[in-house]
Amino acid sequence: MSSSPPSPWWEQAIIYHIYPRSYRDTTGNGVGDLPGIIEKLDYLQVLGIDALWLSPIFRSPMRDFGYDVSDYTDVHPDFGTLETVDALIEQAHQKGLRLLLDFVPNHTSDQHDWFRESRSSQTNSKRDWYIWRDAGSDGGPPNNWLSYFGGPAWTWHEDTQQYYMHSFLKEQPDLNWRNPQVVEAMHSVLKFWLDRGVDGFRVDAVLPIIKDDQFRDDPLRTEASFGKDTGPAENQLRIYSANRPELHGLLRHMRDLMDGYPGDRLLLGEVYSLDPSTAAQYYGHNDEFQLVLNVSLVNLPWEAAKLRHYVEAFEGALPSGARATLVLGSHDEPRLASRWGEAQARVAAIMLLTLRGTPIIYYGDEIGMLDSENAGLNPLDPWPVLAGLPQLSRDSSRTPMQWDASPGSGFSAADEGGTPPNPWLPIHPRAGELNVASQQADPRSIYSLYSALIELRKSSPALVHGSYQALDIQPEGNYVYLREWEGERFTVALNFKSQACRISIPGESTGRVVLSSHLDRNGEAYMGDLSLRGNEGVVILLQ
Ligand code: NOJ
Repeated sequence: MSSSPPSPWWEQAIIYHIYPRSYRDTTGNGVGDLPGIIEKLDYLQVLGIDALWLSPIFRSPMRDFGYDVSDYTDVHPDFGTLETVDALIEQAHQKGLRLLLDFVPNHTSDQHDWFRESRSSQTNSKRDWYIWRDAGSDGGPPNNWLSYFGGPAWTWHEDTQQYYMHSFLKEQPDLNWRNPQVVEAMHSVLKFWLDRGVDGFRVDAVLPIIKDDQFRDDPLRTEASFGKDTGPAENQLRIYSANRPELHGLLRHMRDLMDGYPGDRLLLGEVYSLDPSTAAQYYGHNDEFQLVLNVSLVNLPWEAAKLRHYVEAFEGALPSGARATLVLGSHDEPRLASRWGEAQARVAAIMLLTLRGTPIIYYGDEIGMLDSENAGLNPLDPWPVLAGLPQLSRDSSRTPMQWDASPGSGFSAADEGGTPPNPWLPIHPRAGELNVASQQADPRSIYSLYSALIELRKSSPALVHGSYQALDIQPEGNYVYLREWEGERFTVALNFKSQACRISIPGESTGRVVLSSHLDRNGEAYMGDLSLRGNEGVVILLQ
């Protein structure tokens, strides 16, 4: 039996991303809350999760569902109170679970007191906490920067006769991180939560945090991006409005603050770039983020060669000793099982939990939750409305967690008559089948697959720490790799095609199947040749 090398917790962890509005509603108002997360800690512990990342829980007018913060050091009443967070931290820690909050440094809500002051006059002491500029020579915006959500990144403020900048909605004005008072105020926010015992932060929208001090126009892209088509916002190369060299200094400063706290505290950066070398730069020399989200995979089609390329490109770009992440779903993307297919989602689960990077599971992916078309009928997410691109609605992947087959799927507490309220987004029509209770009772369900994979990863140092070597195996459409650590060796073979195939793996190894996507081949002997059904993946322990 091999043993694990000493390493920080986040290298061995399985992180689970919760969208708090949609996890469990204990008050019966149709919106998920923190007591609901506390109630489900046992579920997460049994599943084998190590750390939770919660999308923002702070006070907010909810224009962007919490990513528009109006008070960083208080909790939105829909979710609970500061005392509920304390209880969550304590109970999560008792169960061996760590807690990461979502820190939104780039922008506040326009309802934040800081912005109310800032917009009150050109001479207000907080004017310079945000980015205000005079109109351009033609009376229009000061430059060509675009909001990621569509339209110009500048909004005219009639009362004080200047434009303010916003990388996202106009209700999300960007902070001016060149102002030392802003840096100090935002560091106080981090300290506030670290002092309460949180284990770290997922850091939102990292690249635009600091902008060009000369406000130069962004050029147009010369090469097409493979990301989703977000209209004109996608055509600009954000070299002045984002990804500035000064950002690294700000992040080092933030990391110093984190390192001053006892117990390893984590900074997990949302560096939204499809270019692995950009993402990798933000690990610094182990003095910026300890982990950066690999957001390229969710933008790829279900093709073995492409996914392999981006897994390897991300790993290959990392500074020595740094750890990759694997992200296959999030609150910003279509659901994994809708994007790639339900059968494919099982193969993807094997990939997620047998590669080297730290896996991040989006809530509900473990039961194969699907995008809800109904959620898009009455869009709440402001982005598609603004961008005129309804297909971008993020509502469909944010629907309530499906706990059981009851009418409200166990998401909301029911009233005295037993009727659950209407949830803030509709329950998926297939919740009767895709839910935790039915899948826990079914040994072949996708839940059972996740559970078996997590158990395997946790008991197999090779899957966490081991070397990775991909093999070029015919026919095309397979992703086959070896993981090895101190004599423990696995072959993982994933068939991305719907057709069956037979593959032959060079070398003389023999072994046995320890897991398959269909959960029906355990113990099968392996002699170097392998038949795979369509959309099947297997993990083989080599002798
Ligand atoms: C990235 C977050 O994941 C997304 O949900 C949000 O809309 C933007 N950042 C703006 O904060």
